[in-house]
Amino acid sequence: MKILVTGGAGYIGSHTVVELQNAGYDVVVIDNLSNASEKSLERVAKITGKEVPFYKVDIRDREGLSKVLEKEKVDACIHFAGLKAVGESVSKPWEYYDNNIAGTLILVDELRKHNAKNIIFSSSATVYGDPAFVPITEECPKGQCTNPYGWTKSMLEQILSDMQKADPEWNVILLRYFNPIGAHKSGTIGENPNGIPNNLMPYITQVAVGKRKELTIFGNDYDTHDGTGVRDYIHVVDLADGHVKALEMIKKKAGLKIYNLGTGVGYSVLDIVKNFEAATGVKVPYVIGPRRPGDIATCYASAEKAKNELNWVAKYGIKEMCADSWNWQKNNPNGYED
Ligand code: NAD
Ligand code: WQD
Repeated sequence: MKILVTGGAGYIGSHTVVELQNAGYDVVVIDNLSNASEKSLERVAKITGKEVPFYKVDIRDREGLSKVLEKEKVDACIHFAGLKAVGESVSKPWEYYDNNIAGTLILVDELRKHNAKNIIFSSSATVYGDPAFVPITEECPKGQCTNPYGWTKSMLEQILSDMQKADPEWNVILLRYFNPIGAHKSGTIGENPNGIPNNLMPYITQVAVGKRKELTIFGNDYDTHDGTGVRDYIHVVDLADGHVKALEMIKKKAGLKIYNLGTGVGYSVLDIVKNFEAATGVKVPYVIGPRRPGDIATCYASAEKAKNELNWVAKYGIKEMCADSWNWQKNNPNGYED
């Protein structure tokens, strides 16, 4: 089975290509490299011992996509390509709606024209907004997103679901990721944010490696066990494996399916700092700052549905997530730029 991986040079995409190739799938990657380096795919090839066919194509480029699909004759698509910086999406909403929504509309139109009506879509826990309850099951109502990025995910879920209802030949799996961290054991691929990291773990690893002075913890007055925000962190290799399991479901004619990919366990910001220090032996100096607008107190998954239906469970605990994030950062202080 041949899989088109959009955004496959990025953080989650590159890890997923490793797991797909290891599981015996043929993989074709397209990426416009707006937030990635082609070097990630060279490193993937070193890990798996298999070349990764790559096309520098934007998902909004209908002609470019059509040529790739004509040539490669893929069976299914795992769709990671998208812009993902929450803060930037507030200042550039048009760019986010254009890239994520217009791009996906063109992608799925080309997929159906080329008879590849199978898609696994990168959604996010952000679609739950401030969740009505925790642990969050897939039945939890979707909420008000606090930024255009979140709305692109919520709207794309709706668009893909409507399309599947209208044409049952489509198999659509919406995967709602919680907070991916960690890196491949080799330490050769990992998360490589541009500029100042928005997310907690890359910020911590950049403090640990000496690129930033200290972590600012965004608020310690939330209604949580220590006042700092609680999230469900998941190892990126576990997340990647979730996509391999979802492909099994595609083969069984999934129809429309929605799964949370999280561990079911919530850790606070302070828990993460402590676990990182314990796992790596490196101190992370921090200060307490004000809350970050749009943040919620607590967000963690119920991972039961993915376990029961996909036979998927997260294998890695928080110490390994921290150790693997650090292994990547310390071996590649400048990401793929060295
Ligand atoms: P990433 O930025 O590392 O990967 C996205 C990739 O898509 C990049 O390589 C980028 O160059 C490419 N891309 C962007 N726009 C494109 C376009 N128009 N055409 C072709 N390629 C394009 O991000 P990631 O963390 O690997 O996230 C992958 C997906 O998972 C994204 O859709 C993201 O929204 C979603 N997601 C991420 C998280 C997270 O915390 N990392 C959480 C939930 C969902
Ligand atoms: C985690 C916790 C912060 C940075 C975001 C997106 C979400 C999804 C995953 C894509 C929070 C605190 C953070 C820092 C801090 N992405 N923090 N200091 O906000 O849960 O989710 O990424 O879909 O849509 O919103 O992740 O890593 O930014 O924050 O104290 O410098 O760490 O307040 O409690 P978040 P995060």
